[in-house]
Amino acid sequence: MKKIPLFKPYIGKEEVRAVSQTLLSGWITLGPQTEAFEKAFAGYVKSKYAVALNSATSGLHLALLVAGIKEGDEVITTPLTFASTAEAVLYVGAVPVFADIDPRTLNIDPLSIEKRITKKTKAIIPVHYGGQPCDMDAINKLASKHNLVVIEDAAHAAGSAYKGKKIGGGKNMTVFSFHAVKNLTTGDGGMITTSNASLDKKLRALRWMGINKSTRERETSAGYRWDYEIRDGGFKYHMNDIAASIGLVQLRKLDLMNEKRRKIAGIYNAAFEGVPHIRPLAQLPNLVNAQHNYCVILSNKALSREEIISALVKEGISTGVHYKPLYHHPRYGKYGKAKDTPVAEEIWTRILLLPCHPGMTAADAQKVARELLALKM
Ligand SMILES: Cc1ncc(COP(=O)(O)O)c(C=O)c1O
Repeated sequence: MKKIPLFKPYIGKEEVRAVSQTLLSGWITLGPQTEAFEKAFAGYVKSKYAVALNSATSGLHLALLVAGIKEGDEVITTPLTFASTAEAVLYVGAVPVFADIDPRTLNIDPLSIEKRITKKTKAIIPVHYGGQPCDMDAINKLASKHNLVVIEDAAHAAGSAYKGKKIGGGKNMTVFSFHAVKNLTTGDGGMITTSNASLDKKLRALRWMGINKSTRERETSAGYRWDYEIRDGGFKYHMNDIAASIGLVQLRKLDLMNEKRRKIAGIYNAAFEGVPHIRPLAQLPNLVNAQHNYCVILSNKALSREEIISALVKEGISTGVHYKPLYHHPRYGKYGKAKDTPVAEEIWTRILLLPCHPGMTAADAQKVARELLALKM
């Protein structure tokens, strides 16, 4: 039986060729490929600057640091996200505060954000869940009113757009993930985009130990080359050229790969139309959804979600649950209470992610839909 995984990287001969060339080039760490990838990515989202990193987790950490978020500050985010979003807040000694979500999209609800704002609130981290952009006009307006920084977690949103503008091309620092299953992968990797030259400079220093001159710059500059200076220290968070050479190829294919994801989603949407117990997420107008995942909200009674998942596994179909609200993990339990985010608390028990990735065929998606529809749930 053909297995249909939940996610799968879409890698071809082009990536293999690019990696081989880089491996044989004599320069495999932070260098010309990383620079070229940054330039190409900034051009793609139309941002002034792009800083390439080893992960989005590092990106969220650095973005919070350069935004000046520190011990005792509060940062509002969604509980329906991967651990990194809240963990990065803890890295800088701040406190994650969870706001509720919109049941149509599973994105953070600006009305709930407003209720969570206190004197200690310094930042908001909206997560573009599954690739559908959050209500950024409302979030940016709240941020201006209360003098808050917005850092967009765009781990799912490479290629997404909000009202005609690519995510990452606006004024907020925006953090992308190039982890293996993301829309654009470099194996592992991340990128921060910003329109602010001073933030760009700080991010570049922090990603590589606070060293003021890269090895590459020293290698290629004339004259006295060995010296460099460290003032404030930093982290070992930069991307390397092997990853960047994969990223350059993936970026050229990103729109096509996202189109393939949306085609799979279209097949599911058509199959579930009018089915009362399987509700796809809403696709709101004026947005481009990179369709990182495909999520349905089940109204199951006869079968538990675990039974549904097991029945699909028997047919070779992998599914997922993104996410269990973070406050359900012991690590984040003290930062959120189920009663404060009633929508997230109710809906997460009914979330089911279906396979959605560019390598799937229409027949794969039809099979998944058929098997799910066949269950008397
Ligand atoms: C919403 C979200 N934020 C952050 C991350 C962290 O990304 P990375 O694995 O690149 O650190 C992920 C990765 O799964 C994610 O899904």
